[in-house]
Amino acid sequence: MKFLVINGPNLNLLGLREPDIYGRQDFRALEDFIRESCRAEGIEVELFQSNHEGAIVDAIQGAYGRIDGIVINPAAYTHTSVAILDALKAVQLPAVEVHISDVSRRESFRQISYAGLACIKRYIGLGFEGYRQAILFLKDYLEGNENV
Ligand code: DQA
Repeated sequence: MKFLVINGPNLNLLGLREPDIYGRQDFRALEDFIRESCRAEGIEVELFQSNHEGAIVDAIQGAYGRIDGIVINPAAYTHTSVAILDALKAVQLPAVEVHISDVSRRESFRQISYAGLACIKRYIGLGFEGYRQAILFLKDYLEGNENV
């Protein structure tokens, strides 16, 4: 089983950016956490981060035929990008949306998620743990576990 984990704009600045919202751990710590979460489950993982919408669309398209499931934190593009939504719909891979912060308790413009319309599940406000939950959910889903 192979997953693609996508992180969108400004997540590369974790640790520096708004630590009261996103925490003090840096992006490298997040990547290590995701790699370890997958390794523990025997899942192969590819990590992709970009600040560019089109690059994220390319990464989703490139997953087709190669990847079993996608975990995606589209960051600010969550709330704006029809292109990312369309790419997720096009490849038809099971995808899970993750946000480090609890977007439901933040500004009104963060209440809409385009990418989420193509996702089977979302984890918000759990910090790094949300990525692990997404990985576990996707694994269960792909294994056809009844209780997901
Ligand atoms: C975020 C929430 C988004 O609203 C924001 O633009 C981000 C990060 C999160 O992980 O909490 O960049 O996706």
